[in-house]
Amino acid sequence: MKIGVISADIASESRVALTPDAVKKLRKLGFEVVIQSGAGQAAYYADELYQAAGADIANSSTEVITQSRIITTVNDLPAEAVDDLSHGQIVIGMLDPYRNTQLDTYAAKGTTAFAMELLPRTLSRAQNMDVLSSQANLAGYKAVLLAANEYSRPFPMFMTSAGTVKPAKVVILGVGVAGLQAIATAKRLGAVVEASDLRPTAREQVESLGGKWLDVPMSAEEAETAKSTGGYAWTPSEQYVKDQAAVVDKALSNADIVITTAQIPGRNAPRLVHQATLANMKAGSVLIDMAAGTGGNVEGSVPNETITTDNGVRIVGAANIPSMLAAQSSDLYANNLVNFITTLIASSNDDASASDASPNLSLNLDMEDEIQGALAVTHDSQVRLAKR
Ligand code: NAI
Repeated sequence: MKIGVISADIASESRVALTPDAVKKLRKLGFEVVIQSGAGQAAYYADELYQAAGADIANSSTEVITQSRIITTVNDLPAEAVDDLSHGQIVIGMLDPYRNTQLDTYAAKGTTAFAMELLPRTLSRAQNMDVLSSQANLAGYKAVLLAANEYSRPFPMFMTSAGTVKPAKVVILGVGVAGLQAIATAKRLGAVVEASDLRPTAREQVESLGGKWLDVPMSAEEAETAKSTGGYAWTPSEQYVKDQAAVVDKALSNADIVITTAQIPGRNAPRLVHQATLANMKAGSVLIDMAAGTGGNVEGSVPNETITTDNGVRIVGAANIPSMLAAQSSDLYANNLVNFITTLIASSNDDASASDASPNLSLNLDMEDEIQGALAVTHDSQVRLAKR
């Protein structure tokens, strides 16, 4: 059984779905692999490395799709590749399910499409398939480096004979996987860090990393809701949003660097920083809006652009930070995919010790399985995604 790798649009995406190391693992499981020529180039994986790992090289996405039962991709497939799909093929990738406009076509083609973002994240056997975590962790780290690069002062405190340099004040809004890594990275660089999230459980994590928690008052009812959402974001009341804006306004008027990471799966990112707050910020301060690709946490941020406000605040619309660390983010993403693909093999063929590609592999597609069932956005010619 063959697994194909489709090249991303290199202009906007440098990652690749499978790396040469992943190809070796899949070969050991008994799969064959075909990769679109050049797909790994932007992540520093040349075609020759894939060939050395045992993959075939194809000249076009059509060639890859024609040969493959399973097709892997970083983002959603381009429309012309979807056109080439035929009944019974499987597509695996970060398909951006709630904004994906091709799901009806996938279903009409009879494709089983797995959107990796929909993984049940608290399920322990699924953690090694968690693409949101693997990519957000790297993005949180890199966001701090982007900020440091844009900022015209250093992060750490320096005592020099010419004078004392104060440490940078960093504020992180949204303390999930990316936010926690951003706190850890900013602390390692010597910054003073404050952070906030609407999940009160994040407080302990912020403090354990040496950050200061920015507290937004919450009603007893909201505190209960926050507990019952199992660690995910909840919809805050108007009063909470107002109080949060005041807390953010005060913290940002003092901040040198702000990193916003707040996302709500399936919906536009919440607006956390408004014009009035930006107008109060110091000239030379830098905001990295990691939610710029999904509506933006910062008013006026533009995906993939850096803008400077009239009062000298720089806003970086960081829509796809993982792509900036393409080699490492591809390694981790590919591992996530291999771990998921492993669960698709019927157990009688689950022989990781076989060294040669075996033609006898069979797939065990099971929508009752809690991982497959959660990830499959189309199957059996139906769109299975619940509306948000
Ligand atoms: P995310 O990328 O969806 O959002 C980032 C952060 O923004 C979250 O912490 C969220 O609470 C926060 N946020 C959303 N709206 C906000 C608002 N209006 N104001 C302030 N903050 C806001 O989050 P991520 O990193 O994907 O994590 C989501 C949840 O899943 C977290 O609770 C995380 O701890 C949990 N998780 C659990 C895992 C596990 O149990 N193995 C693995 C990964 C994540």
